Amino acid sequence: MGKDVIVACDFAGRRQVFDFLDQFTDKKPYLKIGMELFYAEGPQIVRDIKARGHKIFLDLKLCDIPNTVRKSMAVLSGLDVDMTNLHAFGTADMMRAALEGLTRPDGTRPLLIAVTQLTSTTEERMKNELYIDRPLDEVVLGYAQNARAAGLDGVVCSPLEAGKVHAACGASFLTVTPGVRFAGGDVGDQARVTTPERARELGSDYIVVGRPITAAADPVAAYERCLREFVL
Ligand code: C5P
Repeated sequence: MGKDVIVACDFAGRRQVFDFLDQFTDKKPYLKIGMELFYAEGPQIVRDIKARGHKIFLDLKLCDIPNTVRKSMAVLSGLDVDMTNLHAFGTADMMRAALEGLTRPDGTRPLLIAVTQLTSTTEERMKNELYIDRPLDEVVLGYAQNARAAGLDGVVCSPLEAGKVHAACGASFLTVTPGVRFAGGDVGDQARVTTPERARELGSDYIVVGRPITAAADPVAAYERCLREFVL
């Protein structure tokens, strides 16, 4: 499986996302559609972007009772996305239900990955606000092992945790890693960050990059820089 850069299309609406995508004339980046765009435009935005030839990671981070997640995943599966996700926090029953819902009658399904701990979460916040009194690495690894046991394809985690996840869950268990910044770039609300180059060294399979590309003066150049540093 090849490494790739996934561009987080965190835009307020259709016009903004198409203005952004129109700048990419030679390449069709793998795109992440998250809550902001999906809630603003509804499922049609997924079909419209897919029709332009992009692979899509639909990042809606489901977390609810198993029955609700099973039925919601069945709806998302019909959108023909390449990857989608949920919170591992929802427990193994919910993850197994999600896989059932996602699997189409012909047996195919999008990749399903689980968010471990958000890359904006620190160990201190986890302890004080989530009441989880364990080292962050241990929590991420435990959630990754639950996800693997439930049959999922991988996890969302920080690049800083990718190596340990592969060691515990196997080389083919995917690590999809946001929290990527160019050296010296603005960290924003992210806490556990690395550069694209370091993410490659640490073993990430996919990096998810938003503002360093979407807010760049030249987004195409920033995307190409990510590819150069991460993939090549
Ligand atoms: O702009 P930035 O590069 O920080 O964007 C990161 C993207 O990855 C955002 O869309 C965010 O919702 C998503 N994400 C994250 N941390 C996770 C899961 C998803 O930052 N654990």
